[in-house]
Amino acid sequence: MASEEQLFRDIHPNSLALANTAKDALLSGVPMPWMTRWPGSFPLHVKRAHGARFEDVDDIEYVDFCLGDTGAMTGHALEAVSDAVTRQARQGLTTMLPTSDAQWVAENLAQRFGVPKWQFSISATDANRFVLRFARMLTGRPKVVVHDWCYHGSVDETLVILNEKGETVSRPGAIGPQVDPSLTTRAVPFNDLVALEAALSIGDVACLLIEPALTNIGIVLPLDGYISGLRELTRKYNVLLVVDETHTICAGPGGCTKLWRIDPDFVVIGKTIGGGIPVGAYGMSAEIAHRLEQEMSGHDVDVSGVGGTLSGSALAMSAMKATLSNALQEGDFAKTIPLATRWTQGVQDACKLMNLDWHVQQLGCRAEYWFCTPPLNGAQAAGAVDPMLESFLHLFCLNRGVLLAPFHNMALMSPFHSEADVDLHTEVFTLALEAII
Ligand SMILES: Cc1ncc(COP(=O)(O)O)c(C=O)c1O
Repeated sequence: MASEEQLFRDIHPNSLALANTAKDALLSGVPMPWMTRWPGSFPLHVKRAHGARFEDVDDIEYVDFCLGDTGAMTGHALEAVSDAVTRQARQGLTTMLPTSDAQWVAENLAQRFGVPKWQFSISATDANRFVLRFARMLTGRPKVVVHDWCYHGSVDETLVILNEKGETVSRPGAIGPQVDPSLTTRAVPFNDLVALEAALSIGDVACLLIEPALTNIGIVLPLDGYISGLRELTRKYNVLLVVDETHTICAGPGGCTKLWRIDPDFVVIGKTIGGGIPVGAYGMSAEIAHRLEQEMSGHDVDVSGVGGTLSGSALAMSAMKATLSNALQEGDFAKTIPLATRWTQGVQDACKLMNLDWHVQQLGCRAEYWFCTPPLNGAQAAGAVDPMLESFLHLFCLNRGVLLAPFHNMALMSPFHSEADVDLHTEVFTLALEAII
């Protein structure tokens, strides 16, 4: 680790100089707190990003398997998006009035995810927040149920885990919880219908907010029958089902919702559908839309807790239209999913060679490894996290031109990645294992 840290410093003098001066005016020297979490003792500063690659201020090029943690899953700097937002910038970016692009985007999302009515926010976090408010308004119930070790953005109700006594408590590291989360939320283990029924049957739950496969504590897939069982339970107890597809759109153009025919009440998505411009969207079934339209007429909607001055702006809508019409299509997934399969196979082969029983999990064009056999739920996955080992592997890769997602061992494929890029990761990952075993 020490020699990798030294190498990192030696090859990045310009990033180091910028990181040092950044401390004067930026909290922790970074524009956003997570940016302190990259491998290496200071963050790389980026000069430009294109397709599946980026270049840092020391003129080193990297294969980018993080892709802005899904924000750039389409590949960086899509020409159609830069053309559209440049055009839009010349015509005005925000008026708080609709542009015709909004209808096109809503129709496209409706076709992809199978729920007919949509609105927009600035981020997936906001879209989740808004949907929780809608669900509480419609049901008159206070509580939200989520999966243990879920992540749905910085949404207060969702920053929770189950403790060893099975109580819902704040996630470790959650900054300044607004209220004791047990007042708002019940967490249940993923893949546990018995626990889910116990949580829903109390009768105070407005909605169940899920990722159809956990993607933020490694990828944990649902067991056969879990998603259909969960849907039956939400119907049995009149609980609204919200499916957050922000990451699971890696499974295909309509995410797991379309692939697994989930039929939710609400769908939430953000990140990649803006091609890099901050966006979020929430869609809903016709029945929910009808009820909301009735409830909201006459409401003071400008101060209702759902909105955002720049939500649905001309800029956001033009970026989403350009992205959805040029990327995230069947043809893109036909290219990216086999690349993720190749990445998975490469990591599996390297682990086998070293007699490691680590597990690699793929979901569509995303894949991830853990230092354990396949976990069934978030707690099992969290139990296998090894921050030191993870930092070493990530730093080793970064020093050899390969970027993985921080926080976990995830690789995401864009249509711009090649088999050679994937094989480079396999080669570097194998060398990293050889260095420590
Ligand atoms: C499943 C899921 N939902 C929502 C979000 C929040 O996205 P954003 O931070 O862009 O608001 C994330 C972020 O990682 C996520 O993984």
